[in-house]
Amino acid sequence: MPSSRQPWWQRAVLYQIYVRSFADSDGDGVGDLGGILEQLDYVEWLGVDALWLSPVTVSPDRDWGYDVADYTDVQPVFGGMDAFDRLMAEADRRGIRIVLDLVPNHTSDRHPWFQEARSSHDSPRRDWYIWRDPKPDGSPPNNWRSSFGGASAWTLDPATGQMYLHSFLPEQVDLNWWNEEVREAIDDVMRFWLDRGVAGFRLDVAHAIVKDRGLRDRPPDAETHVVVDLDETFAVLRRWRKLVDGYEPDRVLMGETWVMDLARLAGFYGSGHDQLHLAFNFPFVFAPLAAEPLRDVVERSEELLPAGGWPAWTLSNHDIVRFPTRMCGGDERKARAALLALLTLRGTPVLYYGDELGMPEVKIPLERIRDVDARDGARTPLPWNGPWTDPWLPVGDNVASVAEQRSDPDSFLSLCRELLARRRASSDLLAGAYDTLPAPPGVWAFRRGERTIVAVNLSDDSVEVDAIEGRKLAPWEGIILDV
Ligand code: GLC
Repeated sequence: MPSSRQPWWQRAVLYQIYVRSFADSDGDGVGDLGGILEQLDYVEWLGVDALWLSPVTVSPDRDWGYDVADYTDVQPVFGGMDAFDRLMAEADRRGIRIVLDLVPNHTSDRHPWFQEARSSHDSPRRDWYIWRDPKPDGSPPNNWRSSFGGASAWTLDPATGQMYLHSFLPEQVDLNWWNEEVREAIDDVMRFWLDRGVAGFRLDVAHAIVKDRGLRDRPPDAETHVVVDLDETFAVLRRWRKLVDGYEPDRVLMGETWVMDLARLAGFYGSGHDQLHLAFNFPFVFAPLAAEPLRDVVERSEELLPAGGWPAWTLSNHDIVRFPTRMCGGDERKARAALLALLTLRGTPVLYYGDELGMPEVKIPLERIRDVDARDGARTPLPWNGPWTDPWLPVGDNVASVAEQRSDPDSFLSLCRELLARRRASSDLLAGAYDTLPAPPGVWAFRRGERTIVAVNLSDDSVEVDAIEGRKLAPWEGIILDV
């Protein structure tokens, strides 16, 4: 594909910002949109193209923004809509796109829709959520479990005597996606933000939007906590794709597709042009840092995705242990190797804030844990070198700060910036095909496009590699070669 025709989201590197912890402009200890605005210089200097912001909409924060009480207004602690508009305008001026996190699976129990729905059996919004009578013995209508803690996914609403479904916390109530009005309401939410200029959405829980219509019990060997109607979920994705395809310039839909089977993952792309543009590859995220398993995930993904399907690769996010700890055991050589692979694959890489520093997981004292699922260690404030006063989570001291790393040409940050620049300058890395090359055990080697070869030694031994003209790679060394 000639690169000028390649859509921006295929050429882009995305950078996920956990807003509460990126940068704080008003000194209240919580990151905000003004903080992002002040750090756009940094983002630009780093060389990423688009920012995915964790939810910025109004929320009682039982699940830090993933329990939405108003889809079309901005959380006051982040600076409200004014701050959002200022950020959008300045990002736009610099050619940096903003992708929002959208949570269509559930709302907060404080959302006016749910308040109305729960007010009576006859409420016009009753059917916007999923209600059932408990069984005669008072137990839940089926065996579905909540993803948090594994208790029943059903909670009794004493006022009406019925139970409502929640795939996550009882305060995060699942919307009924079989209801056409719900579909229209979320269409309106999308339009609201697209009209304001956002470049697209990261779709929360994209793999499980529509539930089994008959609410049948999970089979004993089920991977999922609830039973999903996949075909109907795909139909909803097609509806959204049509909606965003009506916008110029191109917008992107990036799904949180938390499935471990690659064939199933491929299904989220539909024909390759009619469902998600990008679907996060969790089998890659959770593969061990070793040549064979990573190569295997990438090869099979390349095979299984429909023609026109474009992979999305990431190593960390706000729900999982940061990759330098999870995959690399804190060994910086390993983290460098992993980063090099991430940024040279065919597909759109997504960096999580702090990845560029090689930032490991931060140990959080028990009394400072704020998250329902104890994910705080991956959500700590970015160590800029100073500006955090009384931060909501402790700032880790296990990695050199942005300021220190910026002035050190050998730092992890400098490596990351160089790799991003290299990627941006190479049509092979941006658009070229992926082909595995033969390599000795422990080494992952591949060709990108016509003239670029990547080899990463994911082992503790020095290895000579034919694919790179017989050069020797030190343990955990990676190389990008123009041939
Ligand atoms: C997604 C989010 C996670 C959240 C959950 C419920 O998995 O990434 O942070 O807790 O959805 O909304």
